[in-house]
Amino acid sequence: MRSCRVHPSILSADFANLEAELHRIDTADAVHVDVMDNHFVPNLTLGLPVVERIGQVSPVPLDVHLMISDVDRWAPGYADAGAASVTFHAEASAAPVKLARELRARGAKASLALRPATPVEPYLDMLPELDMLLLMTVEPGFGGQAFLDLVLPKIRRARAAIDGTGLPIALQVDGGITRDTILRAAEAGADVFVAGSSVYGTEDPAAAVETLRNVAQA
Ligand code: DX5
Ligand code: ZN
Repeated sequence: MRSCRVHPSILSADFANLEAELHRIDTADAVHVDVMDNHFVPNLTLGLPVVERIGQVSPVPLDVHLMISDVDRWAPGYADAGAASVTFHAEASAAPVKLARELRARGAKASLALRPATPVEPYLDMLPELDMLLLMTVEPGFGGQAFLDLVLPKIRRARAAIDGTGLPIALQVDGGITRDTILRAAEAGADVFVAGSSVYGTEDPAAAVETLRNVAQA
């Protein structure tokens, strides 16, 4: 059986109490940090100085998801700031292979993200350059949206391609992950699950992480 990881997204946490919010999910495998620039997506969150500081106080590694334009220029700084993995969007990168190599050279895991309507096939040849592939299961920009089932066939194709490489490349999904949808995503082949509202929207975020992990692994 595939081992499954759950990464809570602090987009749904209390931004006035980030350190305490991080400690509420200290049994998670990593924390997902959504960086938005109000250009690549129509929303604005936080940037490099805040991510750097979060990294200093977080009990778990940072999984940074960059939803920003001009990402080739900005992403390496997040690796330098201590992110365990840096995810950049294919749609925002002029030179994804070069950027993935640069991230790895700076000690971070390199991860490529695709919006729901972006096909995976043009990126299959660069899988060996990646530690993780993120398939968005909502249009990026906001938490609390409904999971898009139309991405499931792409998850299946990506899983087959990853298995074909024989490399330990993680397959992450992000958006609308709940107890119900995590089952479908896991069955299609995803093994890393980002969950915002279904973790921080509950009384006990650590228990929600545990429940999601158990459901995905069942
Ligand atoms: C959305 C972000 C997600 C978001 C997911 O663009 O990339 O990480 O936090 O939130 P939920 O789990 O509520 O859909
Ligand atoms: Zn995200």
